[in-house]
Amino acid sequence: KVRRLAAPDIAARKGGEPIVCLTAYTTPVAAALDEACDLLLVGDSLGMVVHGLPNTVGVTLEMMILHGQAVMRGSRKAMVVVDMPFGSYEGAPEEAYANAVRIMKETGCQAVKVESGPTVPATIAYLVQRGIPVMGHVGLRPQAVLVDGGFKAKGKDEAGRLKVLEEARATAEAGAFAVVVEGVAEGLARDVTAAISVPTIGIGASAGCDGQILVVDDMLGLFDWAPKFVRRYADLKGEIERAAADYARDVKARTFPGEAETYYAKKG
Ligand code: KIV
Ligand code: NA
Repeated sequence: KVRRLAAPDIAARKGGEPIVCLTAYTTPVAAALDEACDLLLVGDSLGMVVHGLPNTVGVTLEMMILHGQAVMRGSRKAMVVVDMPFGSYEGAPEEAYANAVRIMKETGCQAVKVESGPTVPATIAYLVQRGIPVMGHVGLRPQAVLVDGGFKAKGKDEAGRLKVLEEARATAEAGAFAVVVEGVAEGLARDVTAAISVPTIGIGASAGCDGQILVVDDMLGLFDWAPKFVRRYADLKGEIERAAADYARDVKARTFPGEAETYYAKKG
């Protein structure tokens, strides 16, 4: 049996070999990613990339648990982290704890992730002290899209830089085992990485982080558009369109199904 990576394994990689992370939402994709990845994040980005929502604000605890279960079933070696959705952790720490426990018990994942707005480090400490490994997320915080007025890069001026640095420090000091840094310029990503004692996992945050993460559907090319920071490693949308067109052609020509794909009654 393969030993699954856990929070201390990831934390120990600070400053070492870069940590390989991708999001995952389903059993078969998790199974295909497990070998190459150290960490699979069941991101609340699933609201947008799997369910077609305009942002992540509408994602529910039930959606996260269902996809978390699917990813756990598909993976064996990679650490699985499940995002806490909007509204499930920003209020009373006791409520965040109850919701995190539900995610951990019902999925079997190794940690949860929260977006580290100003009030969140106290909740991170509350969860970690009670046995729940927590990953933070600073810089561009997608769950704040409605107060920010869009998905905007952070730390563009000095006040913004200091804010992101402070959020990262508070998140690490609260006991997070790693911190996602999203949508910041290279200099700030390097400063955040140097300022905290746990790994930074970058997305749109340069190579100056301890690891990298991408939304898997973006890097697989499932969409016509992807942000500038995404590198496309496949063209799955093109592959699916080609496969569907070939199938349609064969059905219309009655060349599918053929003999090899047909059941016949036993001669008798
Ligand atoms: O929800 C998500 O996919 C994320 C990653 C992009 C870090 O939070
Ligand atoms: Na997320």
